[in-house]
Amino acid sequence: MDQTPTSRLLPGFTDAGQVSLSFIDDRGETVHAHGGQILHHDDAWWWIGEDRRGRVKVSCYRSEDLRTWDFRGHLLTLDSPTAPHPHRSSSDLRLDIPGRRAMIGQGCNIERPKLLYHAARRQWVMWMHWELPDNYHEARAAVAVCDRIDGDYTYLGSFRPLGHMSRDCTVFHDTDGSAWFISAARDNRDLHIYRLSPDYLDIERLERVLWPGGLREAPTVFRRGDRLYMLTSGCTGWRPNQSSWATARSMDGGWSERRDFGDQTTFASQPTWVLPLPDDRFLYIGDRWGGVGRGYPASETVFLPISFSEAGEPGITADLSPWILS
Ligand code: DGJ
Repeated sequence: MDQTPTSRLLPGFTDAGQVSLSFIDDRGETVHAHGGQILHHDDAWWWIGEDRRGRVKVSCYRSEDLRTWDFRGHLLTLDSPTAPHPHRSSSDLRLDIPGRRAMIGQGCNIERPKLLYHAARRQWVMWMHWELPDNYHEARAAVAVCDRIDGDYTYLGSFRPLGHMSRDCTVFHDTDGSAWFISAARDNRDLHIYRLSPDYLDIERLERVLWPGGLREAPTVFRRGDRLYMLTSGCTGWRPNQSSWATARSMDGGWSERRDFGDQTTFASQPTWVLPLPDDRFLYIGDRWGGVGRGYPASETVFLPISFSEAGEPGITADLSPWILS
């Protein structure tokens, strides 16, 4: 597949449509940043996400055009420094278990890493999902910190938020400075919205339990004007399914019912992030999973423009004309 962008359209698109779903970095290697996030910081785009090659857990790439990506480093590996934290049930990152084979890569599973920046503390805080190598039973959240977006993160350990199971997760930094951790609880049956502590390192409160029994995964939240939106997927392992959207005025406010987002497979993807761009544009970012084990490294990333109806209902748009990047 030709990885060279042929137009100034969104990443993954040419004038003829969407073509490129994996990217080659400046070293000539495939970008691995799955279940990830793209942030704007210091006049550049930063893409962080799962990289499960060998002892690596989370990697970081930088771009000035959202199309060409420079590798900036492995943020978290099985050999990352650790620091104890009183609220963590375990500060052991590896937990390799002799005789038990990791599903993907080596050691523990780290999924869906997401960053928050704490401006006053000048600290990047990574929240993620942590599991033992070969199953999803522990259902823990984990936290790591660094003073640079692309530095070596110090792992602070894993735990169950307020004792609740915690699997697919995301973070949200609201305009009032509040920070939120959203994760699938009760064996994925419920979706929890937690307010984070002022330093973003801990859970302060469980504010909402959304759609009890709804079996939602892959949450991601974004703000458009005075409305918040949340995308979630259904729960079908690595296979894509119909995603949905919901809206609220505040994270701890009342969330609407869910309505369908995209087609029956969300264009063969599962949500991971929505990136706000200038001029009221929002970019949907989803994982097209290659599957578990040997299939996983073939996972791709889907970028799709989000359109809004006059009533503010989000959807996927096929009209790429407003999406030429300058
Ligand atoms: C779907 C989740 O969204 C992924 O992050 C991963 O946990 C797979 N399920 C595992 O089946």
